[in-house]
Amino acid sequence: MDRSAYVLGLDLDGDLLGITKLHLDRPVAALSYILRADVWGKGHATEAVRRILALGFGRLGLTEIHAKHHPDNPASGRVLLKAGFVPTGEHAGFNTYTLRPPQTAGGLRSRTRDPTTSGG
Ligand SMILES: CC(C)(COP(=O)(O)OP(=O)(O)OC[C@H]1O[C@@H](n2cnc3c(N)ncnc32)[C@H](O)[C@@H]1OP(=O)(O)O)[C@@H](O)C(=O)NCCC(=O)NCCS
Repeated sequence: MDRSAYVLGLDLDGDLLGITKLHLDRPVAALSYILRADVWGKGHATEAVRRILALGFGRLGLTEIHAKHHPDNPASGRVLLKAGFVPTGEHAGFNTYTLRPPQTAGGLRSRTRDPTTSGG
């Protein structure tokens, strides 16, 4: 059975700082994340995003991932830009972004996930 999402917890010495989530229940996968406010500004979101992107583009074989953030949270946009996301505009009051891994620039790989590795 395919998963509808992967959630990665960001744990530092047993302390849960936040989570990042890869949503697979839509035509193009999407990324979201949230961190405790008392640990902002230390690079944790950037690190968590990079790790879940590696899962998405690596093991899951995704060819595109979308993301969005509220315009009142520019730090979140900065996290996405640092990860390589490209701004695509605005939708429903959110700034929207997309990211494709370099090797899929020509749309060479399928989004289809291997059911033997995606778990249930
Ligand atoms: C977005 C969020 C996860 C940031 O986490 P974080 O661990 O502080 O982020 P990082 O430290 O990895 O990076 C923050 C970047 O934003 C920059 N930044 C901080 N405040 C900023 C501001 N007001 N304007 C522009 N950039 C800002 C920082 O300088 C840093 O960039 P740099 O490394 O180039 O200096 C946190 O704000 C959050 O949980 N917000 C609520 C949920 C949310 O917005 N989720 C995203 C949509 S799903």
